[in-house]
Amino acid sequence: MIWNYYQGKILFITGGTGFIGTTVLYRLLTQASPKHIYVLCRGGYERARAKWENILPASVANTLSGSNRMTILDGELGDTATMDLPEETLQMLKERVHIIIHAAASIELKNSLRELSYTVIAPTLCLTKYALKFPNLEKFVFLSSAYVNAHLWKSSKSCDVAVEERLYSLEGDDDSCQTAPEVWREVQASGTSDEYTTHDFPWPYAYAKHLAERLVLNKASERDALDKILIIRPSVIGPAEEFPYHGFTTPYSSPSTACAAAYAMHPGRKIQLATRCENPEREATIDEVPVDVVAERILVHVALGTSGYVHAVSGEKGRLRLEEWWEAFKKERRLPWNVKPVWTSEDWHSADLHPIARNFKIIGTSFAFSEDKTIQAAEKIDSKELEHLKLFAKRDQPYSMAHRRHHINHVARQMAKKSRWPLCSVGWLTRKGKSSVRFTEKV
Ligand SMILES: NC(=O)c1ccc[n+]([C@@H]2O[C@H](COP(=O)([O-])OP(=O)(O)OC[C@H]3O[C@@H](n4cnc5c(N)ncnc54)[C@H](OP(=O)(O)O)[C@@H]3O)[C@@H](O)[C@H]2O)c1
Repeated sequence: MIWNYYQGKILFITGGTGFIGTTVLYRLLTQASPKHIYVLCRGGYERARAKWENILPASVANTLSGSNRMTILDGELGDTATMDLPEETLQMLKERVHIIIHAAASIELKNSLRELSYTVIAPTLCLTKYALKFPNLEKFVFLSSAYVNAHLWKSSKSCDVAVEERLYSLEGDDDSCQTAPEVWREVQASGTSDEYTTHDFPWPYAYAKHLAERLVLNKASERDALDKILIIRPSVIGPAEEFPYHGFTTPYSSPSTACAAAYAMHPGRKIQLATRCENPEREATIDEVPVDVVAERILVHVALGTSGYVHAVSGEKGRLRLEEWWEAFKKERRLPWNVKPVWTSEDWHSADLHPIARNFKIIGTSFAFSEDKTIQAAEKIDSKELEHLKLFAKRDQPYSMAHRRHHINHVARQMAKKSRWPLCSVGWLTRKGKSSVRFTEKV
């Protein structure tokens, strides 16, 4: 039994108040019986509670903040392993923890590589070094991204790029993990690296995760602990299908929600996008994966002892054709005319593209992310138990954004504020949604 594995286990989770972290914690606390969970949160218990109350209905928020099996540690990840925690807490974690789930990171796609060095790469490396000293460590899970390999779009000619659950070396050698420390020194010194400038990643974020993955594996390999590393690569995360409840989402962590808000707020009739597909509406795809599928894959693979890379994606069966995604946007727009995509063969970084495309870049591409490791994992699980696990996206209903109207509306308000538009314009441009949460501003 998957959940039995967690009985008596002690976990340490970073990013526990974020989109994935919250879902993982909910699942753990409602399905399994871990001995204890320590959660790192900037601002400690009061802030964690405020964040959960802001994004979850009261009953779900109380399940988390009222749990006596969980302790919130007031700390912050940075470029040292201390996380602003007292020495005795660090020592206690080292002695007690069996599983670390590292889900904290900045998810700002546009941040520079130098900024991401501080917010993604250095904290991950420091935490890995610390974790590998834990005598009882069974698994260190690093939340990466399926788009660490998005540079393959440019180096391939296909309109549907197959991506396996493995490392794609940037240097043509077999072990680019070995060179990672040297590349990392280069990034620290200059804010960039030769391999980064040679390969065309959509965002510095994708490369930062690529390098962070290799640094984690390099450290583990030095300690002969590769079997303790699980790298989870989610695609574009979207609302939950089932837990904590259908439609659970946080507006700032769901890229499609931001795109739908930008679409609704676009006053024109055309949006310029880039592609090399001949028939992009049908050939280009978006792999949006429900957050509960991501959480379940993390917990199931940890329980089964999987190591290495695992995609947390909707995959070839569950991904969306661009036209389905676009149709869902149309239904959220109040202006009486629709926006037509105008496709060009320009580069995905081109300044001529609409801001939706300039930010999200992967609109107009298609990646077929392999899910073999999860298919194999599912085969090891008893069929009765499997029925209650959410390892795959369902997609039995037409794709719709109706249940995230409240969030689209909220993101649109932030966009209006930034562009100095009157806030009443949001009411004219987006649909009003009902929400079971009293979600207001960023906490
Ligand atoms: N969302 C996606 O579409 C997506 C897709 C692929 C991969 N991922 C990856 O999955 C992981 C989790 O993403 P998410 O969507 O859950 O993000 P999220 O909702 O933005 O949550 C991020 C969490 O990390 C915490 N955090 C950030 N920097 C921190 C620091 N320096 N010290 C301590 N805590 C810090 C945040 O805490 P505060 O409340 O203090 O800010 C928050 O709890 C990230 O590694 C992300 O790159 C996300």
